[in-house]
Order: sequence, then C-alpha cells, then structure tokens
Amino acid sequence: MSTVLSAVAWPYANGPRHIGHVAGFGVPSDVFSRYMRMAGHDVLMVSGTDEHGTPILVEADKEGVTAQELADRNNRLIVEDLVALGLSYDLFTRTTTRNHYQVVQDMFVAVRDNGYMIEQITSGAISPSTGRTLPDRYIEGTCPICKAGGARGDQCDNCGNQLDPTDLIDPVSRINGETPQFVETSHWFLDLPALAAELGRWLDEREATGTWRPNVIRFSQNILEDIRPRAMTRDIDWGIPVPGWEDQPNKRLYVWFDAVIGYLSASIEWARRSGDPEAWRRWWNDPETLSYYFMGKDNIVFHSQIWPAEMIAQNGKGDKGGEPGRFGELNLPTEVVSSEFLTMEGKKFSSSKRVVIYVRDMLKTYQPDALRYFISAAGPENQDSDFTWVDFVSRTNNELVAGWGNLVNRTAAMIAKNVGEIPAAGDLEEVDEKLLAAIREGFDTVGRLIESHRQRAAIAEAMRLVGEANRYVSETEPFKMKSAEQRPRLLTVLHVLAQAVTDLNTMLSPFLPHSANAVEKALGGERQIAPMPRIDEVEDLDGGHGYPIITGDYTDVPAWAHRPVGVGQTVVKPSGIFVKLDPKIAEEELERLEAAAEQ
Ligand code: MF3
Ligand code: ZN
Repeated sequence: MSTVLSAVAWPYANGPRHIGHVAGFGVPSDVFSRYMRMAGHDVLMVSGTDEHGTPILVEADKEGVTAQELADRNNRLIVEDLVALGLSYDLFTRTTTRNHYQVVQDMFVAVRDNGYMIEQITSGAISPSTGRTLPDRYIEGTCPICKAGGARGDQCDNCGNQLDPTDLIDPVSRINGETPQFVETSHWFLDLPALAAELGRWLDEREATGTWRPNVIRFSQNILEDIRPRAMTRDIDWGIPVPGWEDQPNKRLYVWFDAVIGYLSASIEWARRSGDPEAWRRWWNDPETLSYYFMGKDNIVFHSQIWPAEMIAQNGKGDKGGEPGRFGELNLPTEVVSSEFLTMEGKKFSSSKRVVIYVRDMLKTYQPDALRYFISAAGPENQDSDFTWVDFVSRTNNELVAGWGNLVNRTAAMIAKNVGEIPAAGDLEEVDEKLLAAIREGFDTVGRLIESHRQRAAIAEAMRLVGEANRYVSETEPFKMKSAEQRPRLLTVLHVLAQAVTDLNTMLSPFLPHSANAVEKALGGERQIAPMPRIDEVEDLDGGHGYPIITGDYTDVPAWAHRPVGVGQTVVKPSGIFVKLDPKIAEEELERLEAAAEQ
C-alpha cells in the first residue's frame, strides 16, 4: 500500500469550464484516484479554482464587477460542474483563501531566504490611460523578424518566434488600442539557472523509470537547455501581496507562482479541516509517497519546471544550498501526467469564437457517465483527439447502451422474471468457468493499464470483457430454457451472469461511478460502490469570506478484485441505466453550434 497524492490542475476561474478542460485534467485524475483507492492506496486528491492573474481582471473589468466577485461566481459554477461529473476530490478549494495566501507567502520567503529569488530591473509596458500594467500577450504589433502584423508581445504566431513586447514594431494595447508606455520596474526573479542542475538530475531519474509519457519527459528536458531567471512578481493589483512589498499594492506575486503552490496549500487546508493539522506531511515529506500531477499539455512547463524549482529552492537543494523552510523537504513529482488537446468537430475550443460545449450545458441534457465514457474511451490521452457529436452519439448508443447497458438489463430482467433474486450456482460448465476466469484476469490487466495512465486501453479491455459476457448470453441462450429439466442450468447461467456483471461493474466503476451505483442497486446491492463527492459551504479557516468546497468520504469502496455476488439479493425488473440517444441530436447539436459560432 502506498500513499498517493493526486494533484489535479486548478481550473482557471475566468469563466465556466468546457469539456476540453475536464477531458484534460478532470476525468483522467478521477479515474486514476478512484482506482488507486480500490487498489488499497491512501489517496489524497486536491485541487481548486485558480483565481488570480490578468485574464480574471480583464474579464471582471469587461463585466463591471470586481475580480473577487467574478472569481466567486465562477468558483461556484465550476464546483457545481465538477461535482455533477462525480469528480472525487478530497478537497477542492480556491486560491483566494487566507490559508493559500499564507502558504504562498511562506514559500516565497523561504525561497528568497535560501537565495533563489533575485531582484532585477526590467522594462514593463503600462497603459498610459489607466496606469495599469499591460501583460505581454495583451500587446500587439508587427513582428520584427517576419514583419507579419498581429504578433503578440510574447510570441509571433506567424513565424513562431518568442518575442519581448519591446521588440514589437508599432506596439498597441489589445484592450483599448492605445500605445503602451514602457517604464522601468523592479521584480523578483526565480533563479532557475541555480536550480537547473538539480532539476536535470530529478528529470534524469524520472526518465530512467520509463513511466513518463515520452513527449512530456522530452519536452521537460529540452526546456532546461535555455533556462533563464523568470519573474515571479507582476505589476498588477490583483493577486497575492509580495512579502516585503506590502507598501506597493500594485505589485503582486505572479499567478503561476501561487497557483502551483495550491497543491500544497490545499493539502494543508484539508489536514486542518480534518482535525489533524499536520496530516498533510505524509503526502509531502515522506519520500516513499507517490505524487501524480494531471493537466493539459499547455501546463507542462509549470509542473515539470516551475513547481519543482520552487520546491527545490524551498528545500535548499539548488546550487546555492540552503535550509528547508517550514514545509520541510517537499517531494518532487513522481509523474507529470499530461494529456494532449481535445478539439471539437475538428476545431480548437474557443469560448470567444463560441466553438465550445460547456460542461454545464452538456450535463443538462446528457448523462455524466456518457461524457465520462467518451472522454475515457476517446479522449486526448497520447495525442490530440476530436469530439464530434456523431461520435458521441455512436459511442453512447453502440458501446454504453448496446454493450454494457444491454448486458446489465438483460441479466437483471431475466433474474427478475425467472427467480426474483440472485440464484445460487449449480455445477459450472467449461463455458461458465471460461467467462468468469477471463473477467477475473481483467482486474490485473485493466488495473495495470490505469496505473500506467493508459485509460483508453483500460476501458477498451473492460468493454472487450463486456462483449465476452454478451457473447456468453448468445451461446448459452438462457432465454430459451423454459422446461423444468432446464431449470438448474438456467439458475447456474443466471448466477454466472450476475457474477460477471458484478465484477465488470467493479472494474468499470472508476470510469462510470454514477452508473456503477445504479448497477449495484439493480442487482439488489445496498452499497454505494462508487462514493460521490459533495459540496460543503465552509467558513474560511482564517477569517476570510466563506466558500463552497468539494469533499467526500471515499474510504468505503470495494477492493479492486473479484467479489462473490450476493446470492439471495432481490432483483426487480430493471429500468434502463443508460439513455439511448436519438441519432438526430447529432445534427441538431451541430446546427446549434454553427448558429452560435456565426453570431
Ligand atoms: N489555471 C491553469 C489552467 O487552467 C492551471 C493551473 S494548475 C496549477 O491552465 F497548478 F497551477 F494550479
Ligand atoms: Zn514573426
């Protein structure tokens, strides 16, 4: 048994999240965490909303509300969506808690005390009319290299070169079109070059395990080659105050500096709420603990470079040495599990262009497990993948409904009609033994695939076994066994089917938790085999304002193993567990999408 940290990327709170987001960080981390709990590990799964940074400020200005009001609203929407999807966080919190502020400031001070924050003067763009800093990507101009228009202050999309805002020819603000003014400004930079050797050692050691996805480890090692100090403070008036610069409210910590510390601060908040304030240390200071970080690929650099660098600096383990701060020696990630991107009908998701399906809208009409199934079976695990409505309908109807749903329904219906309860088995024939043995082996195969983050292959294998069980029904034809002589054989076949459904349901429960509970019930079980998260309204532990958290008790789960079916459990005529979709909805949804995009 291991202690396992599931660190799930923090959704940005500038708006509701779309299905591309939850395909990247949400469903995979939940499948993994649910499985690991069933396999006997002690899992702590944490996350929260990421609420600082310019995009929140820009959106709040646009809507005429404060940044905090905007964050409050989106935090609540996101919390509700993630619970509706059944994501089993031990704690889902937010970055505007006082606990988070304190932990982040303590990290900053520890990193600085160890000598890994250096003060540098840079040239920053401000808007002359508001006096506010203009972040690089809000400045636009002509590319100095390829001379294309519309290059951004951070990069030119035409030639792909990285740029500085001061490089742009005729720079203008994308917010209001005015010409930015460049002023000298002082910032704290994380001394990444002094941490690079240790980062490299850690990455080499990780590479040697052979467990990371090749593109993730390669990318992480490549970006070490051209490593430079990186600013961890910004000219902005929304964010966590910089220790020592409290008299300069227009300077705050960089949003990414604080967001990644959320994994630690959320673990601490969880421990404080659990009544054992030091309990988080097991997940952070014990070198045997495993930690998995789940995210989309645009987040890799922050998890394989910035966050480990912050921890190495806090630990005092870079070239300049030092002493661990109050958090002790923090564990570096065991694995950065990054997914690729989900596209939508062949296009990139874009809220502004309305090429988007929000989680909320999807769940208004469709079952959460239908979405979870699609993401697990066809999500962007190792390469970009495309969500299409046609594909969603066909996977739901042909695989979930006609495959798994059909097996469950006919098993329960035949038992209800012929017996009314799960019968005991007589002597097993070879065909019975073969099916049960294949399914029992599935626990090993499917479990190993989930553990190595190959969830597409894992669910495909579980569904292959569902197919075997359906084939068993066609071969044994229990529906034709009507005579008294056939009765013993009928009872045995129905028992075998109930056993098969029970084991397959255990195996599918990390992917399809809502229906796992319904299937268990359909076979007369009393237990919630897939515990569900809940929303608690809580007070801030340190006097800030209240907020909703996601939490839950996920300890009472069946083991990841064959479990003898409950002979004698009452089985009544089932109602369908999965809803079959009208193929017409694919066209309708597509039309709706196109109409929205044209507006
Ligand atoms: N908010 C970021 C995004 O949506 C993810 C932050 S992950 C964290 O891409 F660890 F930094 F919080
Ligand atoms: Zn260019």
